[in-house]
Amino acid sequence: MKQLKLTVFFYCFLGFFFTESLTLPTKLPDVDNFHVTQKFIDDNVGSLTVIAVAQYVQEATFEEVEVLVKEMLQLRDKCLPDETLPECARLANDVLQESICAVEGLPQKYNFSHCCIRRDLERRSCFLSNKKADVGFLPPFPIGDPEKKCQDYQQKKDLYLKKYIYEVARRNPFLFAPTLLIVAARFEEVANTCCTQQDIARCFQTRAPPVIHYLKENSAYEKIVCGAFMRFGPKTLNSINIAELSQKFPRIAFKELTYLVGEISSQYGGCCEGDVVRCMRGMSKIVNDVCTKQNSISSKLKECCEKTILECAACIIYLDKDEKPKDLSPREAKFTDSKDVCQHQDADQDNFMNEFLYEYSRRHQDLSIPELLRIGENYENLLADCCKTENPPDCYRHAEEKFNKTTEKSLKIVRQECERFQNLGKDDLKYHYFVKLTKMAPQLSTEELTSLSKEIVAALGMCCAKREQFACVDNLVDLLLGEFCGVNRNRTINPAVDQCCKSSFAFRRHCFEGLKADKTYVPPSTSQDLFALHEDLCQAQNGVLQRKKDRYLVNIVKLKPHITEEGLRSFHTDFTNVIEQCCKAEGPEACFKEEHLAPQGVDSRPAAFASLGMLIEMQNLRLFSRVLRQVKAEEMRRHFTKDIKL
Ligand SMILES: *[C@@H]1O[C@H](CO)[C@@H](O)[C@H](O)[C@H]1NC(C)=O
Ligand SMILES: *[C@@H]1O[C@H](CO)[C@@H](O)[C@H](O)[C@H]1NC(C)=O
Ligand SMILES: *[C@@H]1O[C@H](CO)[C@@H](O)[C@H](O)[C@H]1NC(C)=O
Repeated sequence: MKQLKLTVFFYCFLGFFFTESLTLPTKLPDVDNFHVTQKFIDDNVGSLTVIAVAQYVQEATFEEVEVLVKEMLQLRDKCLPDETLPECARLANDVLQESICAVEGLPQKYNFSHCCIRRDLERRSCFLSNKKADVGFLPPFPIGDPEKKCQDYQQKKDLYLKKYIYEVARRNPFLFAPTLLIVAARFEEVANTCCTQQDIARCFQTRAPPVIHYLKENSAYEKIVCGAFMRFGPKTLNSINIAELSQKFPRIAFKELTYLVGEISSQYGGCCEGDVVRCMRGMSKIVNDVCTKQNSISSKLKECCEKTILECAACIIYLDKDEKPKDLSPREAKFTDSKDVCQHQDADQDNFMNEFLYEYSRRHQDLSIPELLRIGENYENLLADCCKTENPPDCYRHAEEKFNKTTEKSLKIVRQECERFQNLGKDDLKYHYFVKLTKMAPQLSTEELTSLSKEIVAALGMCCAKREQFACVDNLVDLLLGEFCGVNRNRTINPAVDQCCKSSFAFRRHCFEGLKADKTYVPPSTSQDLFALHEDLCQAQNGVLQRKKDRYLVNIVKLKPHITEEGLRSFHTDFTNVIEQCCKAEGPEACFKEEHLAPQGVDSRPAAFASLGMLIEMQNLRLFSRVLRQVKAEEMRRHFTKDIKL
C-alpha cells in the first residue's frame, strides 16, 4: 500500500468531470486559469450545489436538495449571458444560503432559523457552526444490492452520481468540494468498470475500498487542518503548511516557499468555511501556481502537471517526497551556532521561526508533521528563555539535544503502540482502545468512540509494518485524536480533554497520551438508555452483529468506568459464546432454556433480573454474563426488549 500522504493542498483541478464537452488542457501554464475554473464551476453547478446544501443542512432529503439545485441552475442560466445583473455579482455562497433560508418551512423543519435571521458574515459563521461532525443521527451509508445499483446507475448516471455525492457530502460535512468531486469521479470509474462485469459484487468489493480509503484519509486531514485553523488561527495553519511543503519539496527556496504557503493559507478559509465555489477557485489557483513554478519546486512534479487535470490533483497529493539536495548540511548553523540568533529573531520573529521550521523540515523527511511542529515550538520556547540570559549562545547551543529529547519521547509512544499492536492483535487492540478512549472521554457518543477506536487500530495496522513507521503512525493517530477537539466549534467534553485540545496543536498527542480516566465523570445510574439487545441479534449479518457488540462493549465501559481491559475481554468472550452457541442451536429459545437447566447457584428468578443495569451495577460483569446464560429465553427476551435496546 502507498505510504500515507498528507498533503492535500493542491488540485490541478479544472477540467471536466461529468461534462465531456470541454477539451482538456494538459499544460496548465498555458491556460487562462480563471476562465477554465469558472467554466468548470458553471458546468458543475448542480454537483457543487448538492455538496454545499447537503453539508450545511445534513438532515435535508435529496428531494429538498434538488429544489435548490434547480434554483442555482436557473441563476446560472440567467447570469451566463449577462453577468452585470445585480444577483450575479454576489458571492455564490451568500446567494445559496439565502436560497436555503427561503425554502418554505425548511429552516423550521431542520432547526436553522436562527441562522437565517442573521446576515453576511454572521450568517456564514452560523451555517458553519451548524455542521455536525458526529453523524450518528443519519442512517448508515446505503449499501444497496450491487446489481440493482448498476441498473439504477446505467439508467440515470447523472442522477445516480448526484445522489452519491449527496450521501457522501451529508456524512462528511467538512470535506472540501474538490476532494469530494475526485471521490465521485473515482466512484464513477469503479461503477463503469464493475457494472459491465460478470461478478459485479466482487468487483465492487475489490475496487471500492481504495476510493473509500482516499475519502477517509483526506476527510480526516481536511477536518483537522480546518480545526487547527479555526482554533489556533492562521499562524498554526502556516506552520503546518511550511512543514508539509518543506518536507515534500526540500529543494524549494525559502522565498518561494513563503509565497506558496501564503497563497495556500489565504485560500484555505473558503474551503474550511464550506464555500464550495471559493474553495474550487482557490485550489485551482494554487495548483496553477505550483505547476507554473514547478521547476523551482520539485523535479517530480513534471509528471503530475502533464496529466489530465483531474488526475494531476491526485498525483500531487500522493507525490513522493523529493530527494534532499546533495549539498544540504545536516543542520543549519544559523539557528544554533551563530552568535546573533537573538538579534535575528528580534528583527523578524515570525519569518525567523518559519525559516527555522523550513530548514529543519527539509532535513528531516522521516519525521511526522506534528513532530516538526513540536520541534518548532521547542525552538521558539528555547529562544524565549535563552535570549533573556546573559550568554544566549551558551544557552541555545544545546538546542539539538532538546529536539532529540522531544523526538525520543514521540518515538517511544509510537514504538509502544506498535508493540501493543503486535502483541494483542487487531481484536484485542480494539478492546484496548474501547477502554482507553471511553475512560478518557466517556461523554462522547458510543458511535464516535467505537469508530475512533477502530480507526486507530486500522491506522496502526497500516503503519506499524512500514519502514516509515514513526511518521505514518504519528501523522495518522494525531489526525484521529484531533477528532476529539472538533472542527467548527470548540467542543467541551471534559476539562482534561478540553485542556489537551486548547493548549498546543503540536503537543496534542503527548497531552492525550498522558490522560487517564476522566475524574469528573459520573456513570449513569441506570443502563436503560445505554443498552439494547434485540432478538434479531441472531439474524444479524456478521458486520452488523460486530457493530452491535462493539457498541455494547463501549456502553459497558461507560457504565463501569473502572473496568479493566481483561474484564472487558472476558465479558466479550462470554457474551460472544452465549450468542454464538444459542444462535447456532435449533432455536435460540431452546438454547437458553438448556442453559437454564444447569444453574450454578446463581439466582435467576426474574426478580433478580429486574434490571440489567442494576445487575451490572451490583455484580461484576463476569457474573452478569454467567447469569445471561442461565436465564430463560422468554425472560431474557422480555427483559432485553423491554428494558434495554441495543
Ligand atoms: C435548535 O437549535 C438551537 C440553536 O442551535 C438549539 O439550542 C436547540 O436545542 C435546537 N433544537 C433542537 C430541537 O434540536
Ligand atoms: C540528534 O539526533 C540525530 C539523529 O538521531 C543525531 O544524528 C545527532 O547527533 C543528535 N544530536 C545530539 C546533539 O544529540
Ligand atoms: C475556540 O477557542 C479559541 C481560543 O481558544 C478561539 O480563538 C476560537 O475563536 C474559538 N473557536 C470557535 C469556533 O468558537
